[in-house]
Amino acid sequence: DWSMAGYRDAKIADIRAQVGDGKVICGLSGGVDSAVAAVLIHEAIGDQLTCVYVDHGLMRLGESEQVVGLFREHYGIPLIHVEAEALFLNGLAGLTDPEAKRKFIGKTFIEVFEAEAKKIGGAKFLAQGTLYPDVIESVSFTGGPSVTIKSHHNVGGLPERMNMALVEPLRELFKDEVRVLGRELGLPPAFVGRHPFPGPGLAIRIPGEVTKDRCDILRQADAIYLEEIRNAGLYDAIWQAFAVLLPVKTVGVMGDGRTYESVCGLRAVTSVDGMTADIYPFDAAFLSRVATRIVNEVGGINRVVYDYTSKPPGTIEWE
Ligand code: XMP
Repeated sequence: DWSMAGYRDAKIADIRAQVGDGKVICGLSGGVDSAVAAVLIHEAIGDQLTCVYVDHGLMRLGESEQVVGLFREHYGIPLIHVEAEALFLNGLAGLTDPEAKRKFIGKTFIEVFEAEAKKIGGAKFLAQGTLYPDVIESVSFTGGPSVTIKSHHNVGGLPERMNMALVEPLRELFKDEVRVLGRELGLPPAFVGRHPFPGPGLAIRIPGEVTKDRCDILRQADAIYLEEIRNAGLYDAIWQAFAVLLPVKTVGVMGDGRTYESVCGLRAVTSVDGMTADIYPFDAAFLSRVATRIVNEVGGINRVVYDYTSKPPGTIEWE
């Protein structure tokens, strides 16, 4: 007679047994998994938990404020908000290769996180929102040569380096179950239902060089797209939707003038686990409304295209 309430209580007991009176640190990414892990651990051990939110400046519009507000104000969970935008953007300057961008962000994230963990001092445990699919995906089951499609961003390697033990209370769960647990723990439904967001953030949605200007342009376009998706009541029917800012300029006309600005790509997919995906078939009126709003309201974009590629052969993210 399995229930999520029972799972929650069993995990709380496990966490208490594992950590005793030790300190735990948990990196918050803004995503659902790390948030649910943090709230569960906080229920188990209260202020023995400190959360660290590394703000790499590659988050969506208003996202950092939402995450920090939720944890500090709503839950009263001790949270260190590290403002590291300049560090990340300076290091990204000149990088255009997708793997180079991912590797730089992953490495820098770990360095910043590690420095903060040292400041807290004496934490013996590192909490992560690892899910069951992450556990199986890290094991080769094809028997074929292993090919890295994309270097995923997580804090791998850190626990050994810092001599910390892992606390991973979601290891047996799938994404949909994590959402059920999140609701069970009282997380706001809008937060629990959020679309997945990749660790390297907007950097992998800006092919080519990432600059503050381009991040700001993308944040505006993305916010308009998601606002229209929510207004149309489509948010929960879509696994993931986001805008991409292409390193291509095209000619347009606005009023009496010629424009020469960037192209914005729109992506929306349905999926069960992110491993395969189908494009979301918006109707034409919806897409043209979004395109019109983006071109009219966002300086720096004068053309919008919709990505019609399923996964495979395309990946969900563009890099
Ligand atoms: P792809 O682009 O590989 O993405 O089809 C599959 C799913 O994984 C997310 N994604 C990431 N998530 N760190 C993450 O935590 C990453 O480095 C990363 N890269 C991709 C992507 O958003 C999609 O949901």
